[in-house]
Parts: sequence; C-alpha cells; structure tokens
Amino acid sequence: MGKTKIKAAVLTASDTREAKDDASGTVLVGKLLAMSAEVVKRVVVTDDLLEIREVLFSLSSDPEINLILTTGGTGFSPRDNTPEATRAVIEREAPGIAEAIRAVSLINTPTAMLSRGIAGIRGKAMIVNLPGSPKGASECFDVIAPILQHAVDLLNDSAIH
Ligand code: MTE
Repeated sequence: MGKTKIKAAVLTASDTREAKDDASGTVLVGKLLAMSAEVVKRVVVTDDLLEIREVLFSLSSDPEINLILTTGGTGFSPRDNTPEATRAVIEREAPGIAEAIRAVSLINTPTAMLSRGIAGIRGKAMIVNLPGSPKGASECFDVIAPILQHAVDLLNDSAIH
C-alpha cells in the first residue's frame, strides 16, 4: 500500500470541446474517483501549444497535484500540440508509460500508432498524455491504472520497496 494519496488534475485539450461536453475528461475523472484518487482540478483548453504549456506548467507547480492526465491533441493534425507542450514542461521523460500504452492499445487498435503521447515528470508530478476520444482515453487509462499509486509514491519518496 502506498502512502501518498493520488491528487490528480485532468486537462482536456480540444478546439471543439467545452467544459459542458468534455466526455473524455468525464471518463477520466470517473476512473480516478473509482480508484479513490482525489481530483483536484479539471481544465479544458484549446489545442493552442502555448496555452497547454502554461496550464501544464501551473498544474505541475501546484503542490496539491501529483498526477496530471491530459486527453486529446496527441494525433497528427496540425493542431495536435499536447506532446510538444508536455515535453516543454517535463524535467524527466518516462518513456515506459507511453510505450506500454501504445503496446497494449496496438493489440486491438492499429490506430494506436497515431497517438504521439508522451509521459514525464516535473518535480513531484507525473504528466501522462492520453488520446482524445472517450474510448481511447478510457482504454489507455486502464493500461496505466495498475502503476499510478507506485509512481506517485516513488515521486514523493513514500514507496515501500
Ligand atoms: N488508443 C486506444 N487505446 N484506443 C483508441 O481508440 N485512438 C487512436 C489513438 N490511440 C485510440 C488510441 C486514434 S484514432 C488517434 S488519431 C490517436 O490516438 C490520437 O488521438 P488524439 O489526437 O485525440 O489525441
């Protein structure tokens, strides 16, 4: 059992979604609450690179947040900027997380190759990019769910080895 409570933020990047119809964000919040994590903040921004970067910077500066899940903006469209915004903010990359998400997703979904999502760490917060469709966000969350508590414990030096 870990000692650090998961305190999460969910960031949706989308040029078309608004807070009232943020389906993928709603799926992620539901799954986090189901695993007894606290959801501290929920934000919907456009796909603008600078906007995503600024919000990620501010969320990862908040001592009350140790996990940031993004949904959307990981594909090949010109406005898909979430991985670049994340890379600009993180101090250490966590490639195993993104590798696992794509490896598991690829078993059923060849289009998993089209997600450029990354994961990494800034301070004591882990940031993970998930795809934008509610189905994709949900499936990819399920891949990382088993390691979230241990990751947060390691970042906060509370892991029992
Ligand atoms: N991964 C899983 N597990 N399930 C999915 O349905 N959709 C893919 C991919 N990864 C998907 C997935 C598709 S169709 C795209 S275009 C990319 O994620 C990027 O999605 P995004 O631009 O909404 O982030």
